[in-house]
Formats: sequence, structure tokens, C-alpha cells
Amino acid sequence: MKKFIVAPSILTANFLNLKEDLDKLKKAKIEWIHYDVMDYNFVPNLSFGPKILSDIVNEYSFKMDLHLMVKVVDLSIEEYLEPFLLKNVEQITMHYEALSETQIEEFINFCKSRKIKASLSINPETEVSSIKKYLKYIQNILVMSVKPGFGGQKFIENSLTKISSLKEIREMNNYSFLIQVDGGINEKTLKLVQEAGVDMIVAGSYLVGSNVKDLEERVSKIEG
Ligand code: DX5
Ligand code: ZN
Repeated sequence: MKKFIVAPSILTANFLNLKEDLDKLKKAKIEWIHYDVMDYNFVPNLSFGPKILSDIVNEYSFKMDLHLMVKVVDLSIEEYLEPFLLKNVEQITMHYEALSETQIEEFINFCKSRKIKASLSINPETEVSSIKKYLKYIQNILVMSVKPGFGGQKFIENSLTKISSLKEIREMNNYSFLIQVDGGINEKTLKLVQEAGVDMIVAGSYLVGSNVKDLEERVSKIEG
């Protein structure tokens, strides 16, 4: 029985060789792929949208974990998310800091009606207490352990306290959300997040890219 879920982020892939990287992940029996969407507004970077997602899900059967680092303006949450609702999209994360209270509620209701796991993310400078009132209604909480926007950054330690306090809140209230971490995972920080009580681990540069030679070994270390 695997103790932790691993979700490689393909943000750090070389897009000229994306198929090669996806094939490697498939061979390593990866179930989830973390798909980072950025808007050059909420974060200072742009990544990819529904088209590449559609190409991936048409070819592979990975469960897709969407991480939307975006603000939603001039569209309803439903209008914004609709093009992303493709085969095998199982979970969508949006940022607490990027949305208004009404948008968060709209997002949670939207996921519920489409039977998708609703997940909220908090940035390194955001306290767990800010999202307390939503914890009852969501299936996952993503603790950012780097500033969102880029792969390959250094792990920020305050995420460890957030992970343990979320775990405590979950136990005390009998909530069922999973705790996910994203950013700066490597051999060393992996142990720290595992000890702190995380359930799902996102890793970009540690797992995806031509320099990763021992993928299967790294995956099994993460899965525990
Ligand atoms: C960063 C993204 C991450 C990123 C992680 O904003 O949300 O998913 O790909 O990359 P590493 O694991 O290299 O920090
Ligand atoms: Zn991410």
C-alpha cells in the first residue's frame, strides 16, 4: 500500500520532448499528472491552457490534477473552467489569494456539480486560518512551499507547520480533505513533508526533465 500520492508537474519538462517525458512517467507507473496553468497576472509567468491538456488526455490515461494560478476577470468561474473540463480531469486547485469570496463559493459549487475534487491553495505568506471556513467543503488543500510561478525554486520551511496544523484541524473536525504540497521537493525536503503529514506530493524538477536519470527510484521513495 502506497503511503503518499505523487503528482509530477510537467512544468519543468522540455516541451520539445514532452511526449518523451510523459512516456517515462507512464513507464514509472505514475497515476497523477500535475498541470500548472499560469496567467501572467496572478503570477509573473505564462504556461499552458486547455489545448495541451486536451492533447495529453487524448493520448494518455493519467488522472489530471489542475493547478490554476490565475485570476478570473470578466468571466464567471464556470465560463473560465469549462474549457478545462476534459476527460480524466479529477481535481482542480484554485488560489485563495486570487479569488473573491463569491468566486471561491462559485468554484466549490461548480466542482461539486461536476463531480470534480475541489482544492484550494494557499501561498507561503497566507495563514491556514484564512481558509478555515472552506475546509469542510473541499477535498484537497494545496500548501505552496514556494512562491507560485516557477519550477526549481527553494523550499520554504513554513509550509511544514501549515501541513501539521491542517492535519490537526482535520482530525479534530473529522474533515476529509487531503493535504498536498507543491514546490522545492527534493530528497531532503521530501522527508520533511512526509513527517509533517502530507498526503499528496507535487514535484517538478525532481521528477521531470532530461537530467532525471533515476525516476523510478525517486517515485518509489516519494510513495513510501
Ligand atoms: C510552481 C508550480 C509547481 C512547480 C514545482 O508555481 O506550481 O508545480 O512545477 O516545481 P519544483 O518541484 O521544481 O519546485
Ligand atoms: Zn503547481
